[in-house]
Amino acid sequence: MTSSDLALVTGGTGGLGTAICRALEAAGYAVFANYHPAEQASALAWLDSQKADGFNPGLIAADVSDYSQCEQMAAELATAGSVRVLVNNAGIVRDSTLKKMEPHQWQAVIDVNLGGMYNVTRQFITPMMDAGFGRIINISSVNGQRGQFGQANYSAAKAGVHGFTMAVARETASKQVTVNSISPGFIDTEMVQTIPEPQRREIINNIPVGRVGQPADIANAVSFLVHPDSSYITGINLPVNGGVFMH
Ligand code: CAA
Repeated sequence: MTSSDLALVTGGTGGLGTAICRALEAAGYAVFANYHPAEQASALAWLDSQKADGFNPGLIAADVSDYSQCEQMAAELATAGSVRVLVNNAGIVRDSTLKKMEPHQWQAVIDVNLGGMYNVTRQFITPMMDAGFGRIINISSVNGQRGQFGQANYSAAKAGVHGFTMAVARETASKQVTVNSISPGFIDTEMVQTIPEPQRREIINNIPVGRVGQPADIANAVSFLVHPDSSYITGINLPVNGGVFMH
């Protein structure tokens, strides 16, 4: 690995993203955390806190739902090195029962959680295949596997993530580029903390291991899949959910 081997984590400044960035830096990559351009102030504060903790990520802005911003992001990263690892982690929720869901709530979740995967991955797939190495990890969700009350938009997008994973894995396998999904269960991040009580309590009571997951549980799975020794694993969906859904 060289100092110009980059790892890009979309939504890298969030709860899961932070743990994933740290794990990839520990694995030797020069890590870039992508963030939404509207969140520059909080991204800069995040960067300060990472440095205070001894980490040294880069920051790169782009709205993943906007193809041209993703093209621009790729052009900027190309001046720093070659993206060898891409973690498509950016995601949003707009929870509502379907009978009340407005078109903008549907579209926003599809555009970020599913469209973003295309917009970002499309920028890096050819360079990875040309280089003969790449690791793409797409963050899906247990709710894409089993459906969640109030999340028709999110569950549809997250199920779509794994379809995307399998298709792209087939297209890239012969070039030593692996593409895998991770499906987190309920992880202790802002997204889960904002689930209203009592639904949150009921969810936690039904996790077989008896606790919500930690961001490090997901980062650990990312580390495993990006490792050079994981070259025979492609097109899978790795659930990391404390046993909350088994199939
Ligand atoms: N299962 C069954 N019934 C439920 C329910 C559930 N999980 N949640 C709500 N209901 C019922 C209510 O008891 C109520 O029933 P009655 O009409 O008989 O009184 C009815 O549904 C309310 O329906 P409304 O359409 O009026 O819903 P609402 O406006 O009150 O809001 C909701 C419903 C938006 C789904 C809200 O309950 C909610 O936000 N729930 C959390 C959704 C959730 O789990 N999100 C996961 C976020 S974490 C994440 O996404 C990360 C990840 O990847 C795991």
